[in-house]
Order: sequence, then structure tokens, then C-alpha cells
Amino acid sequence: MFNTRHGVFKARRLAAYSYAAAPGTRASRGTKERASLSFLLVLMFFGVFGVIVLTEILMVDERGRGQGVLLPSHMDQRPPPSANLTAKDGDWQIVSGTRFKFLVFSAFFDKRDGNRMIRIVGATKTRLPERVFCRFWYPADHPQHDQAVTVPAKVKVIRENWNLKYSACFVLCLLRANQTVPAVVSVVARLRVRPHNMLAVRPLDRPDGAPPPDPASLAVCVKPLHFSYNRPVEMLEFLELNTMLGADHFTFYNHTIGPQVSCILHDYAARGRVTLLPWNLNMASQREIRTEGLFAALNDCLYRNMHRHALVAQIDLDEYIVPRHNLTLPDLLQWLGKRLNTRSAGSFSFQNAFFYLQWPDDPLVDKHGLDSRLLTARKTTRRTKLHPHKQRSKYIARPEFVVEAGNHFVWEFLPGHGAINVHPSAAILHHYRVCEFGGDDCVKSSHVVDRTAHRYKDRLSAQVSKRWALLRDDCKLGELFTPPPDGVPPPPPGSGAPPPQQPPPGGDAAAPDPDGPDGVEALQVLEPERPEQS
Ligand SMILES: *[C@@H]1O[C@H](CO)[C@@H](O)[C@H](O)[C@H]1NC(C)=O
Ligand SMILES: *[C@@H]1O[C@H](CO)[C@@H](O)[C@H](O)[C@H]1NC(C)=O
Ligand SMILES: *[C@@H]1O[C@H](CO)[C@@H](O)[C@H](O)[C@H]1NC(C)=O
Ligand SMILES: *[C@@H]1O[C@H](CO)[C@@H](O)[C@H](O)[C@H]1NC(C)=O
Repeated sequence: MFNTRHGVFKARRLAAYSYAAAPGTRASRGTKERASLSFLLVLMFFGVFGVIVLTEILMVDERGRGQGVLLPSHMDQRPPPSANLTAKDGDWQIVSGTRFKFLVFSAFFDKRDGNRMIRIVGATKTRLPERVFCRFWYPADHPQHDQAVTVPAKVKVIRENWNLKYSACFVLCLLRANQTVPAVVSVVARLRVRPHNMLAVRPLDRPDGAPPPDPASLAVCVKPLHFSYNRPVEMLEFLELNTMLGADHFTFYNHTIGPQVSCILHDYAARGRVTLLPWNLNMASQREIRTEGLFAALNDCLYRNMHRHALVAQIDLDEYIVPRHNLTLPDLLQWLGKRLNTRSAGSFSFQNAFFYLQWPDDPLVDKHGLDSRLLTARKTTRRTKLHPHKQRSKYIARPEFVVEAGNHFVWEFLPGHGAINVHPSAAILHHYRVCEFGGDDCVKSSHVVDRTAHRYKDRLSAQVSKRWALLRDDCKLGELFTPPPDGVPPPPPGSGAPPPQQPPPGGDAAAPDPDGPDGVEALQVLEPERPEQS
């Protein structure tokens, strides 16, 4: 893949050079000029052709060399890593000796699709990434312990990179059929340099005899938290509402987190609900790499949860995938599985609906109650028009069928797997935010009231206040909501703020349909395709 691109890139450059040479040949005029021009065109054609053939040959060469060959011992002197370097799993480490920044985060043993390889999540130069090698390390009691094993790596830049200088990438190191899976791997730029990174290899397969993950087990992945993220109520709502929606586990990445949210996450981590990984990526966000290298995080999270959870949702903190007829997402997917063949589905896509924050709060929500602090209770007006799939949509992946995860859709599945576009009558993505193009004009777009999330409101309020009370002192959270000021009587009945217990009135444009979903027939099964980068 990368090599083909590389080839095309070279070919284009060659064409540009040929054009640049053209004015020089124009010394003679008239027909001569035309003749030399066509000669040049022919030359260009052969030049481009030649480059393509050459790249093909190089590619074959590379394929042959990627097979996990042991380098001859005289070539591989294998200086040991520094004594103070220990193997890490899920922390940015540098590959030294490269001209440009090259960093690695985590390593997985991936034996799907007939290959055996170490798949490393990293970040490097988007165009023409530098050549690197993988060095395998075995435990001291292993017969190959002192054997030098270094293989050339293949760097596969992750497709979603917004044309910035750096990009998330996979570093792939193939193992031979009978080669033992290393316990630790280092990525090195030159054979004789001391490695400056050691990645503990995470096995992707289950331990022998372990049962497959519960098909209802759902993990949630969130892109790196940044700007000293510190909104404790929003975080608790996210954790507790997603738990009600069926999430068993959450993975977060710590670029920068504020003190209260840090404290909350530590509490959830201590109870086994959250994995929090450091994210000290030494690349300038948006200038050098897209949004703190989020595509490295999304893919790390996908592989980290593979075979531990049957389902992985990739969402942001202001987004919720909300089913309309089922209470949980696993229930929804199980129900879908009865209606259509979802056995080979690699992902389920949900269309985006903006709930703009500028629209007024729901009048059914008590202004002085806890509900008024919960985004999903307060904000029930949404744009009527949903975005089509792949534009701002989010998805739930079946990680074992996915090779490369993107932000809004899966870029690459294992052969034979594809995406299922879930019909909006079954579930949509609720996205709570301000107008996406700035200003307030978005509130003029046509909208409906959608109280689907109110089904969780009461349980969610109870759960969030319970957690808040437990953590208030330790995490210095303060008061969850301000009670009505003294002396101000509660609003008289019928004055526009009815008590929160009142059920939503009938006739809502988007109230759940009591007769059950009717959009089942309209569910589309899409074949995997190569979508354009958005
Ligand atoms: C490890 O030791 C080397 C020198 O022995 C030093 O330069 C390096 O900073 C140390 N690294 C860490 C992570 O302590
Ligand atoms: C792996 O297989 C190759 C040939 O298939 C053989 O030469 C080599 O000795 C084997 N290595 C191990 C460790 O079994
Ligand atoms: C997040 O990372 C920062 C910087 O590395 C660190 O100081 C802080 O303790 C981390 N927070 C948590 C909650 O782990
Ligand atoms: C999910 O919703 C469908 C449609 O209303 C319903 O038939 C099905 O029983 C629900 N599944 C569960 C587990 O609640």
C-alpha cells in the first residue's frame, strides 16, 4: 500500500521534472519544437512507466525481506538496551537515530488473516517515512534468549492524517511461521544503535481455554483528553450514562487532565472500570499532527480491547449513541442480528444528530434540580436533518474484524467484513455542542424535540449524585447544583416549569414509536469500500 503510494509520488515528481526541462528544448522553433515536444512526451511516458516497474521490483524485494529473516550475526551486533530501560505498554517512547520524529506507543501480536506479525502503534512522518527495524527480545529462560533477531519493519501510515507533517502509523514486523512471539520489541533506525524504546508485546489472542468475550461486552474508547480537561459533571454523566447504555469499560488517554477529572478517573480506574494511559506525545497538535495524534489512540484502543470486549465504541465526551427502542446498545445489536445477517459485520455506524447547546433547555427539566446539570436531560432539541453515514457518524466496531480504525468510520476491515449502517429509527448519535461553524446561525436550522435520552434521566440523576456524594470531599468537587435561592418560592404550577416527574407529552416528533421500529427493512448492508478522506 505504502509502496504503491510511494511509487506514484515518485512518478509525479518525475513528470514535473520533465516539464521543467521543456523550455530548454524550445531553442529551435516551429515543427522542430512540436517534434521534440512529442519526443519528450514519449520519454515522459517511458520514464513514468519505468518508475512504476522499478517500484514494483522494489516492492517485491521488500516483501521478501519482510518475512522475519534473521540477519547474519556479523550484521547484527545488537547492543543491549540501556540498563535503565524497562519494557512499557502504552507510553510514548522515542525511536532514536531518525532524521524526523518517530515515536512508538504500544505493540500487539497480530496473527489474523494468515499473517503472524508484531503490530506497533506509532507516529512518524506522513510522506516517505523513514526505514526502521524491529528487534525482538525473549525472556531470559527462552532458548532464543541470546539469539539476535532483527527484522526490517514496514511502516504503514494511517490514512486519516489531514496532510500534516506527522501522522499516526503502524510499524509491522512479520514473524516466520515457527518463530516464537517475542516478549518485548524495540524499534531501531539503525542496526548498531542502542534501542531507546522497549515495548511489551500484548498478545491479541485469548489464553488457551479462555472463553470468547461475552458478545454483549462493550468497551468505550475516547480520544486523548487535552486542554487540562476538567468538567467533572460532564465526565460523570458520560461514564454513568454509557454504563447504562451497556459499557463495561472505558479507555482514556491523558494528554492533560484537570485535578477533579483526574481524581474521578482514578476512582473509576481503582474499581476496574477505566484504563487511563499517559499520552505525552511530543508533537504539536494541529500543526504537526492531527488533534494530539488521535488516530494512534483510536487504533491503540481498538487493539487493546480486542478479544477482551466483543464491541468497541469510539466516541467523544459530548457524544452518545442512543438506541430508540432498546435500553442498551448490546441489546440493540442483538436485536439487529435477528433481523439481518450481522455475523460478518465489522462495524455498526450511527448517524450524527446535533443537539446545539444554543437551543433553549427543555421546559420539562427543573431549572433548580439536578437534571438541569445533565446535558442529555437538558438539551432535547436537535437538528431534524441527520448527517449521512461517514460524515460525523460514529461507530461500534467488532474489533477482531477491523484492521484500521478511523474517527467516523472504519478504514480497513479484514477480508469478508464490512460496515452496517444502522437506520436512524433504531439509534442515532446524539452530539451536544455549539454551532460547528461558529456564531449562532445554526439554531435557525429546522429542529425537533427528541426526548429519547429522557428514558435514562431519573436513573442517571440518581447515579451521578451518588458518585458525586462519594467523591465530593476526596476530589474537592463542591456542590453538584445550586438549590433555589432562599425565599424564592417554587414556580407556581403551569408556569412553564412543570415538575420533572411529568412524562413527556405525546405527539413529539421524535417520541419513541409505541408500535416498534418500522425502519427495519430500510437497514442497509454496505460492502467495505475505500471512502474519501473527510
Ligand atoms: C538511562 O541512562 C542513561 C545513561 O546511562 C541516561 O542518559 C538516560 O537519561 C537514562 N534514562 C532514563 C529514562 O532514566
Ligand atoms: C523454523 O523453520 C525453518 C525452516 O522451515 C527451520 O530451518 C528452522 O530451524 C525452524 N526454526 C525453529 C526455531 O524451529
Ligand atoms: C496526566 O499526565 C500528567 C502529565 O504527564 C501527569 O502529571 C498527571 O499526573 C496525569 N494524570 C493522571 C490522572 O494520571
Ligand atoms: C429491542 O427492541 C426491539 C424493538 O422494540 C424489541 O423487539 C426487543 O425485544 C428489544 N430487545 C431487548 C433485549 O430488550
